[in-house]
Amino acid sequence: MNLVSFKWIIQWAIIGLLVIGHSEAAFRHSFRTSAQDGFAKRNRQLATEQKYNPNYKGQFQLDTSSITFSDGVVSGILKKQIPEKVDLLFPFTVSFLQDGSTRFQLDEKRRLEGDVDYDDAKVRMDRFDVAQYHDLGSRINVDTERPEVKIHNKKLLKVDYGNDQRFSMILHFQPFMIEFLRDDTVEIVLNQRQLLNMEHYRPRAERTREDESLGMWEEKFDNILDSKPRGPESLGLDISFIGYKHVYGIPEHTSSLSLKETNNSETGYTDPYRLYNVDIFEYEVDSPMSQYGAIPFMQAHKVNSDVGIFWSNAAATWIDIEKDSSSTSTHWYSESGKLDVFIYLGPTALDLYEAYSGLTGRTQLPPLFSIGYHQCRWNYFSEEDVQNVDNTFNEVDMPYDAIWLDIDYTSGRRYFTWDEATFPHPQETLKKLDSNGRKMVVILDPHIKNDPNYFVSKELLENGFTVKDSSGVENYNAECWPGDSVWVDFFNMEGQEWWGSLYSYDKFKGSDKNLFIWNDMNEPSVFKGPETSMHRDAIHHGGWEHRDIHNLYGHECINSTYRGMVKRDNGVLRPFILTRSFFAGTNALAASWIGDTLGTWEHFRGSLATVLTNGVAGMPFSGADVAGFFGNPDPELFVRWYELGIFYPFFRAHAHIDTKRREPWLYGEPYTSMIRNLLGIRYRLLPTWYTTFHTTHMTGLPILRPQFLAHPADEIGFDIDNQFYLGDSGLLIKPILEPSIDKTAVYIADDETYYDFYDFNEINGKGHHVVPAPLGKIPILLRGGNILVTRERIRRASELTINDPFTLYIAVSSKTGSATGDLYMDDGTSFDYTKGAYISRKITFKDGVLDVLDTHPHPQSGIRYAESMKHLKVERIILIGVNQQKIKIRKHGISGVSSWDVKVDTDGVIKKPDLYLV
Ligand SMILES: *[C@@H]1O[C@H](CO)[C@@H](O)[C@H](O)[C@H]1NC(C)=O
Ligand SMILES: *[C@@H]1O[C@H](CO)[C@@H](O)[C@H](O)[C@H]1NC(C)=O
Repeated sequence: MNLVSFKWIIQWAIIGLLVIGHSEAAFRHSFRTSAQDGFAKRNRQLATEQKYNPNYKGQFQLDTSSITFSDGVVSGILKKQIPEKVDLLFPFTVSFLQDGSTRFQLDEKRRLEGDVDYDDAKVRMDRFDVAQYHDLGSRINVDTERPEVKIHNKKLLKVDYGNDQRFSMILHFQPFMIEFLRDDTVEIVLNQRQLLNMEHYRPRAERTREDESLGMWEEKFDNILDSKPRGPESLGLDISFIGYKHVYGIPEHTSSLSLKETNNSETGYTDPYRLYNVDIFEYEVDSPMSQYGAIPFMQAHKVNSDVGIFWSNAAATWIDIEKDSSSTSTHWYSESGKLDVFIYLGPTALDLYEAYSGLTGRTQLPPLFSIGYHQCRWNYFSEEDVQNVDNTFNEVDMPYDAIWLDIDYTSGRRYFTWDEATFPHPQETLKKLDSNGRKMVVILDPHIKNDPNYFVSKELLENGFTVKDSSGVENYNAECWPGDSVWVDFFNMEGQEWWGSLYSYDKFKGSDKNLFIWNDMNEPSVFKGPETSMHRDAIHHGGWEHRDIHNLYGHECINSTYRGMVKRDNGVLRPFILTRSFFAGTNALAASWIGDTLGTWEHFRGSLATVLTNGVAGMPFSGADVAGFFGNPDPELFVRWYELGIFYPFFRAHAHIDTKRREPWLYGEPYTSMIRNLLGIRYRLLPTWYTTFHTTHMTGLPILRPQFLAHPADEIGFDIDNQFYLGDSGLLIKPILEPSIDKTAVYIADDETYYDFYDFNEINGKGHHVVPAPLGKIPILLRGGNILVTRERIRRASELTINDPFTLYIAVSSKTGSATGDLYMDDGTSFDYTKGAYISRKITFKDGVLDVLDTHPHPQSGIRYAESMKHLKVERIILIGVNQQKIKIRKHGISGVSSWDVKVDTDGVIKKPDLYLV
């Protein structure tokens, strides 16, 4: 949700009078363009100069005598060429890591050594190091064995590294440039355009008049002053992907999946893509403007090849993208921090995701319930309201897993309290929900009402765990939902512990085991703050400026909540947390949604590429509010949004307080039945969803797979972002994103047979195929060669299905006549799976034989859990594309193989195959 501050209301009123409905300009100018962000302007100027000035030279010269290689690390020193300045030294390293990636780091010597003077400012001297702060150290292991110097002469240094020394790095001395090769082909180049930049330390006394226009020593935006106590300190680098026309990632934007060129009149993007977490009101669709989360990870893809980079920086960052006929050149610049880039050479997407997520964190295996349907609204106003909604779900026979409370359940927006008039008995409400296996999720934000009589505020202030203003001493005070507020400083580890402890049952009175958490507004959102966020010169624990850590604030908030929730349940149960803000690695802790969408077709369409991009870049448990946060969608849009919603990894209905009520039955028939069917599809497919989440948890692969990942050799698919596959299930989904149509063309990239999910009609052949899509029926195809595992009984909530039998849909390949599928399951709630308590099966079908294999890597460790699941059976097998009267089933267990024949009915169905999975 978002603020509508006084200023906005005035602005809107004026604009409303002038051009009704044309709102873009009004809100756009609440956020900086790159020209209004001094450091961005300076770095972009460098790019322009490089383009037009034939005498342009990079700023740095390598001291060739400084180059050394030892224990997997190349070190050297760059000198900055500035007239009348000597000894501007910038040590750098290139480290070769055990996961096959490479890391390039650069810093200024003076700042490393603390040899600087920032007058009386309460800021520290060194540059912020994300990897160190983020505690990634234990995951960064230098490879001291394999890397080997192959050439070292006057011009270059060449090191071969990685498996079989398949990768090489060539460091060119003059001009300074680093190439990364795979099998002797250049894939990625750093500093090809000589845009490497790191603004050196300068004492304030040296400022010149010229500096003013470039925003070096102080800068105003929206009439708010940024005092810049350390002066200019930005850093930048150009990174080229050779032979790659498509790059993906760097969420969060509502742009296309394949990223567009910036500073380009054809794409309409005049600004670079921006990474600066903001609470953005009714954001623009198809724009490089920042949104709520930031992940500086980019992937480049060409036929059967994937490479990528991670720009490890949490300050405001902009990324320009330029393409020529065969390659993509990107230019990254950040306001402060160290220069730290990880380079990944694939060659497959799986290699890339495994290495990248191995560094920043694998996606959490969430509790099963959180993959079900969530019902939210700002606000369910009372216990009666909650009861009524809950009861009506039962009456209309629709499943759901969690009901959500937005800010108004609290006593005056004091988080960790309940409004005594409207929620006098939260625990009774929770018990009632629990009797149907349902949960409640409540909002708790990191801004705290400044009120000495409120226990959270009191403890926060007494302990001094607040963010401080630019004085470094006074509390940072501003407006947010509760009015006058202060902010928790998650960069203080004790503050993190304290925030985490608030979730314990004795602190958060009225909470219980089926209560889970939503942390919103954690960009952080600050009403009337610059760009509705925190002042960049606010000070965090340890002397960090807010500018250094901005994009990491939400992540640290979530980590603190996560650890608090783990502790609440004694380390036994998996937490569920929803966050709006995120950074690289937040996927290990929480789900996210894409914020304040409008209930319009445009925003609906925009949500898909955003969710796909979040997935590709490592935030896969993501979704958009169904059916848009603002506004009152008509029945057609409402139903279409549920159609896509059942395929968002995070599936939640939510709506603004000013919208009409829109629980899924309120539009009446025929829409209610349509939505009931759609919810049914989500719940029937839960075993497949859960298996997919587990694959993501283990590998880093996204949950929703865009065309370019599912068919890495098919170039036509590289910029398709209006259809996608669900994990490895073989399900291909083509949502309807336009009004007034009842069919659509789905793109098939291969010669496989695809089967219509509803009637098993066959679709054959590469190319576009028209499929029916009447309202209420989202086109879903099942690719031949896949076995789909479902549970066909719809119950009130996902947890109630845990003992239900399975159905197998076996869709054979028209090429090989075979099919395979996977099933992962565990208790859906606890961490016991980390000790082996799960079931893992591979199911294959070939030549009339169905094999069920135990794929648990340590079957004995899971035996107790497996024993408790002995009753789990397959109640039906549906053969698609097979014409046989009987098949053989073979079960391979620890105790050997058993096999038997079963009869196939004329409709291809095997009833009661007598197959138990354990
Ligand atoms: C952006 O485009 C304009 C016009 O083509 C050009 O003059 C300018 O140098 C470009 N800026 C950058 C940063 O590439
Ligand atoms: C969360 O914080 C703990 C303690 O600082 C740290 O060890 C862990 O790596 C963090 N997790 C993530 C995902 O940032």
